[in-house]
Amino acid sequence: MPQSTTAEAFAPAKVNLSLHVTGQRADGYHLLDSLVVFAGIGDHLNARAAPRTSLRVTGPMQGTVPDGGDNLVLRAAALFDPPVGAEITLTKNLPAAAGLGGGSSDAAACLSALSGLSGRPLPPRAAQLTLGADVPACVVGVPLRMQGIGERLTAWPPLPPLWLVLVNPGVGVSTPEVFRGLDSRDNAPMPDMPHARSAADFLHWLRAQRNDMQSAACRIAPEIGGVLAAIAETPGCQLARMSGSGATCFGLYTSPDSAGQAALRIARAQPRWWCQAGAILD
Ligand code: C5P
Repeated sequence: MPQSTTAEAFAPAKVNLSLHVTGQRADGYHLLDSLVVFAGIGDHLNARAAPRTSLRVTGPMQGTVPDGGDNLVLRAAALFDPPVGAEITLTKNLPAAAGLGGGSSDAAACLSALSGLSGRPLPPRAAQLTLGADVPACVVGVPLRMQGIGERLTAWPPLPPLWLVLVNPGVGVSTPEVFRGLDSRDNAPMPDMPHARSAADFLHWLRAQRNDMQSAACRIAPEIGGVLAAIAETPGCQLARMSGSGATCFGLYTSPDSAGQAALRIARAQPRWWCQAGAILD
């Protein structure tokens, strides 16, 4: 018997505050060491119990993702056996192929909604990983250290209050292409973070970390350099860095007001760019 007839889930943008590429497995997948957080900016998923599973995609970015069987939401739904019938509506706000784990977060939201709808447990982490390397992290949805290819997840101590701006220049970047373009695949892992008492301590530590995919992504999509420069020159910006394999970059701010002002300023200067301000979810 269904537990309820509808379930809703938020699919937040995943942001890699740091992303170190530390090796490569024999099957070609790369070993990562990343501080992953989630933003109060994202897609929305609604599921209503129904005899058969279907998906309708709506929202400003609806045209950027498939609405057929290739969509990660339907692939996530297919992990439930026997099936959980649901009419699913996905409101797509996040750009696709953007380094924000949008598809992975949608898949995680679908798993959580269908689990809520049916009262059945979430599929195991190994099954989640077959949808995408970021899916297990998106299922957890709180700040964490992600290692391995995305299956080793460790809770991160509470972060100081920080706000971010996400900026995408409207260029899709292929993750495998960026991985192929890496200069080096055996970089140093993230050092442990000393107990960060304040935003200043944490930011000092974070500035010394890297996104090892940033240079390769900038060669593929030179617009990323312009995005980083535009973020870095906004008042109050503490750090500008690329997320995931790009092209989305983030700026970090110590107040919601400075993040909001920065987003307005960038949106005015570059009306074609996608630009949003939001909190880091804890
Ligand atoms: O898992 P996801 O769909 O996000 O990954 C897209 C592609 O990026 C993979 O098919 C793989 O080629 C590459 N990748 C990788 N190492 C990872 C994650 C992804 O090489 N840790």
